[in-house]
Amino acid sequence: MNEILRLTKVTKSFQHKKAVNEVSFTIGKGEVVAILGPNGAGKTTTISIILGLLKPSAGEVTLFNHQPHEKRVREKIGTMLQEVSVMPGLKVREILELIRSYYPMPLAMEELIKLTGLTEQDLKTRAEKLSGGQKRRLSFALALAGNPELIIFDEPTVGMDITARNRFWQTVRMLAAQGKTVIFSTHYLQEADDAADRILLFKDGSIVADGTPEQIKARITKQSVSFMVNPEMSLVALYQHSEIDDIYRKNNRVYVQTTNTDKVLELIFQEKLGAYDIKIERGKLEEAFEQLTSETKEAI
Ligand SMILES: Nc1ncnc2c1ncn2[C@@H]1O[C@H](COP(=O)(O)OP(=O)(O)O)[C@@H](O)[C@H]1O
Ligand SMILES: [Mg+2]
Repeated sequence: MNEILRLTKVTKSFQHKKAVNEVSFTIGKGEVVAILGPNGAGKTTTISIILGLLKPSAGEVTLFNHQPHEKRVREKIGTMLQEVSVMPGLKVREILELIRSYYPMPLAMEELIKLTGLTEQDLKTRAEKLSGGQKRRLSFALALAGNPELIIFDEPTVGMDITARNRFWQTVRMLAAQGKTVIFSTHYLQEADDAADRILLFKDGSIVADGTPEQIKARITKQSVSFMVNPEMSLVALYQHSEIDDIYRKNNRVYVQTTNTDKVLELIFQEKLGAYDIKIERGKLEEAFEQLTSETKEAI
C-alpha cells in the first residue's frame, strides 16, 4: 500500500472530555474513505487534526510520511472549509487565479471549472455578491486549485440540493479515478455507502468498525440464522463461539444472533446438530444505524 496518511493512537481532549480517543488508521493512495458517525462522534476533531488545525493531546499523525505542518505536505492537500472567507472586491476568476499562483503545480483553470461546475456567470461575480450555491462551488474550486493528491472534506454535502450533491459525488469519483485520495465525513450511512470504498465508523471518539460499506453494513445490522432442530439436541456447543451474540428459541425454532452468518452456518454443520430448514434473516440497516446514533445522543 502506498501510504498517504497514518494516525497512531491519536487522542484529543477538551477539558475532561475525550473528543477523539486513541484513534489509529492508515489510508493508502487512491482510497475514498468516509468517516461516518453521528453528531459528536469526533469527525470534525479528527479531520482538524489531520489538517493540522488542531494539535492532538497524544498520538501521532504523518502525511506522506512527513509531519502535517511541512510546506511540501500542505501543498498536496486540498480541503473545503465550512466557511469560505473570500476576498471582497475580487471576482471569482481572479480569486482562483490568485490561489492557483500559490501552488507549484496548480490545476489548469479549464479543468477546475469543468470539475466544479462553475459557470461563466459565477466567474464574473464578485466575492461579496456570491449566493450560497456559488460560494460552495468556489470553495470546492479552491480545494482543488492546487491539484492536491489528498482531498479532505468535512460534511461536504450539508445544505446542498440534490443536483449539487450528485454533481459533487460525480466529481469525487472522477478525482478518485485519477488516483486522488479522498477523505470525507458524513453522518449519513447512505452517503458513505454510495460514495466511499471504505468506511471508518466513529462512535464516541473511537473507531468502532473499519471496512468496506458491505462489511460495515453487515457489522451494524443484526442478523440471525434460524433453524429447526430436535428439541433434545443440546446447543451448548454453539455458545462456545465468539461469533455468536445470542441464542434463543421461539415457536420451536432456534435463533442465533450474529454479525457473521457464514461462520454460524459453518458451525451448525461442524457441531453436527442435525439442523434443518435453515434461514438467514437480516435486520433493517437504517434501524441499526439509527440505534447507533440515538445511543450516542443519550450518552452526551
Ligand atoms: N472546542 C471544543 N471544546 C470542547 N468540546 C469540544 C470542542 N470541539 C468538539 N468538542 C466535543 O468533542 C466531541 C466531538 O466533536 P466533533 O469532533 O465536532 O464531532 P462531530 O464532528 O462528529 O459531530 C463532541 O462531544 C463535542 O462537543
Ligand atoms: Mg462535525
